[in-house]
Amino acid sequence: MKVLGGSASPLLADRLAKELGEVSGKTVTKRFPDGECYVRVMDDLEREDVILVQSTATDADIVELLLLQDAIQEYRVRSLITVVPYFGYARRDKLFNKGEAISSRSVIQAIQRNTDAVLLVDIHNLMILTYYDIPVENISGMLQIADFLKEAGVEMVLSPDEGSVSRARIVGQNMGTSVDYLEKTRIDGETVRITTKMLDVYRKRVAIVDDIISTGGTILEAAKQLKDQGAKEVIAACTHGLFAQGALEKLEKVCDTIISSDTIENETSVVSVAPELAKAIQNYQ
Ligand code: R5P
Repeated sequence: MKVLGGSASPLLADRLAKELGEVSGKTVTKRFPDGECYVRVMDDLEREDVILVQSTATDADIVELLLLQDAIQEYRVRSLITVVPYFGYARRDKLFNKGEAISSRSVIQAIQRNTDAVLLVDIHNLMILTYYDIPVENISGMLQIADFLKEAGVEMVLSPDEGSVSRARIVGQNMGTSVDYLEKTRIDGETVRITTKMLDVYRKRVAIVDDIISTGGTILEAAKQLKDQGAKEVIAACTHGLFAQGALEKLEKVCDTIISSDTIENETSVVSVAPELAKAIQNYQ
């Protein structure tokens, strides 16, 4: 088996290779002067079972993923599993207004064309799995987040809205702590309102758990409420730390700790989804 990482996921590819008892292969990604992407796979993959790991937080990451799949298939590999740890466009999962694209579906159609199976992590809405015509599995990063929060002495877990409470429940159940949720209303892409709700957080170490932190607007509003209600410490935890538009700096002013997984590699990536991905891959064999 060969594990290859694209330029968005080199660390996770290495960790996954180690979990599987393999050494990760080498890929090269460059940009032509006009900005077009160039990729090359440096290992001989003839008749290999290949795992390709590449998050798609940007459009450039998507193109790189498609080119890497093409380069891998040129070797006549035995099988290719594409791991998309963070799948961009996951939140554009349906038609919100007439005339728009169903972006998730469109990107999925491109990604599934050249692979045998796809693995995703904490996908925003499980419904988008129905857009796949090939085997696809969604892995949870919440168990690793639960381990971290338990170690940090967190006494209560909160979801920023009722719709995402199932993820917070996985975390709370694995830590043996109580779970509650806030009531969020999204005003626009950057603004959310969290309705005031009295919570049992006074002098407690509390974690807010979400799948994605993008602009940080959701966590910021939630954290302010918890601090106003006397929480001793607020930890923001997510699987996918996008931290768009200076979100990290904004959050650091209110949250005591911010953590994410290595689906998007950044300074807050303190937990790894590699062990769970490795288990899923071993089940395929
Ligand atoms: C949305 O429903 C997601 O679960 C996240 O709550 C959302 O993507 C976070 O976005 P932001 O950080 O921009 O508030």
